[in-house]
Amino acid sequence: MIVPGSSSQLLAAVLAEATGRPLATATYDRFPDGETLAAVPGFDGDEAVVVASTVSDAAWVELLQLQDAVREAGATHVTTVIPYMGYARQDESFDEGQPVSARAMARAVATGTDRVVLVNPHEPDVADFYDVPVDLVDAAAVLADPLSTLTDPLFLAPDAGAIDIAETVRDAHGTGATDHFEKHRDRDTGAVEVAPSDAPVADRDVVVVDDIVATGSTMSEAVSVLTKRGATRIVAACVHPMLAANAVTKLRAAGVDRLIGTDTIERGSSVVSAAPAIATAVDLETSAESVPNENR
Ligand code: R5P
Repeated sequence: MIVPGSSSQLLAAVLAEATGRPLATATYDRFPDGETLAAVPGFDGDEAVVVASTVSDAAWVELLQLQDAVREAGATHVTTVIPYMGYARQDESFDEGQPVSARAMARAVATGTDRVVLVNPHEPDVADFYDVPVDLVDAAAVLADPLSTLTDPLFLAPDAGAIDIAETVRDAHGTGATDHFEKHRDRDTGAVEVAPSDAPVADRDVVVVDDIVATGSTMSEAVSVLTKRGATRIVAACVHPMLAANAVTKLRAAGVDRLIGTDTIERGSSVVSAAPAIATAVDLETSAESVPNENR
């Protein structure tokens, strides 16, 4: 059965259809003191696929509870799909005394599952933090689906780390150039500065592609440069549309004409689904991409 976390109910339903598995009706309650109680009252089966984007601290707790609940209900094999892995950006101790948060979360999740499926984690190396096999899913290609005819398109990554995703979307679209800006983020203030490449953008359609839009600072800085340089139309595309706080407004103010995201995080801009790509990975019991993680 497919078992959804509360933040991934739409994606889980599409995944259930895509994989031909029944959808469990999980419940999500809270005690008066604020503690979470996620449960699977109707769970029936040997195999569970728990699907939960960890968009908040509560979502992490829910995920751990659902893993435990399906074991209690008789599951002998558990796959954990994390469409969006929160805390993945803290994948090292950046300052004295800081944790490697991604490792701490991964270790907890690995105790309750036989395997993990991650969709476009911020760095693929976070897979090494799990003590169980991990399949990595690249869902970026689907971001090309809503793109209509583009004029002399440029697929632009706001920093060098996102160039692979920009190339994937360009390849899926079928035509266009790729380039990337350089980004600097002040770790103390969070302020972002981008150093533009000299790619000509006047009278062109530009698709700015990133793995995640969180505060929107990175994307809006890049878009502001493109607006000033006379880009015709600017589409902002990301796999994970976190869109925290006033990110949407920042993007619009910077000049974004259209915002496209997948449903790894369910938002108004989640116009395409990562489910088909995830379904392929879920059905792979042992894949070549699985990371055994023997040394962790
Ligand atoms: C960072 O390297 C990521 O690829 C994103 O660019 C970043 O996480 C986006 O964050 P924000 O929207 O807060 O600038």
